[in-house]
Amino acid sequence: MSRVAIVTGGTRGIGEAISLALRDMGYTVAANYAGNEEKAKAFTDKTGIRAYKWDVGDHQACLDGCAQVAADLGPVDIVVNNAGITRDGVLMKMSFEDWNEVMRINLGGCFNMAKATFPGMRERGWGRIVNIGSINGQAGQYGQVNYAAAKSGIHGFTKALAQEGAKFGVTVNAIAPGYIDTDMVAAVPAPVLEKIVARVPVGRLGHADEIARGVAFLCSEDAGFVTGSTMSINGGQHMY
Ligand code: CAA
Repeated sequence: MSRVAIVTGGTRGIGEAISLALRDMGYTVAANYAGNEEKAKAFTDKTGIRAYKWDVGDHQACLDGCAQVAADLGPVDIVVNNAGITRDGVLMKMSFEDWNEVMRINLGGCFNMAKATFPGMRERGWGRIVNIGSINGQAGQYGQVNYAAAKSGIHGFTKALAQEGAKFGVTVNAIAPGYIDTDMVAAVPAPVLEKIVARVPVGRLGHADEIARGVAFLCSEDAGFVTGSTMSINGGQHMY
């Protein structure tokens, strides 16, 4: 029986590319999504990958959602915490809700998903957790105190849980993407984005499948000695 992987936010953007990459490795993939029904249906119709709807920021919903995936597909050995949102704005204009929602989903989602799946991985002696952080969690970004704090938190969370999983065969790693050509980045005002891309040594936005290939490696059998690491995939924008 093939290993089962859950990719949160797995029906579009970087998550879609990750779902496909893991499927192509022979894993059975469940793609979680939160809201965009139409996109999720189109994704399943196109790929045959099952999509499951729940809010990763909701603790109980994660426990229930992961239990449902396990009942349908088998024990969950791989989790990619990719789901994330932005609510950009300078601190002076940022509401508490915009702070809280980003923390709840981007960082809280990693905790909720780990609570739902880490115990089983530990018990079975094998697991892979990959958390999608961000260059902006490493370097900070004007207008993103919420997002940068949550993503920076993900990098700390990764290193802490890696230590807890190591002797049970469960690796926990992070990828820190730079600016990738997704809807999230397309929402950055064009003049701001132009200035950002001008600072990328490779001279362009990244592509979702360039992130997915990194995730695929970290989820492979071959990556058993890689844990607690952060793989930066950012075109050289921030060398960390
Ligand atoms: N550094 C210094 N100053 C900056 C700045 C920067 N990076 N960006 C903007 N400013 C300055 C502007 O020059 C302007 O100054 P003046 O008033 O003196 O002219 C001032 O800040 C206000 O700028 P805006 O007009 O842009 O202010 P705003 O309130 O309309 O918008 C903002 C602020 C929402 C933060 C907007 O600048 C923005 O969207 N920035 C991009 C944020 C970003 O990169 N988000 C990444 C999203 S994608 C992602 O996060 C994925 C990932 O992991 C990489």
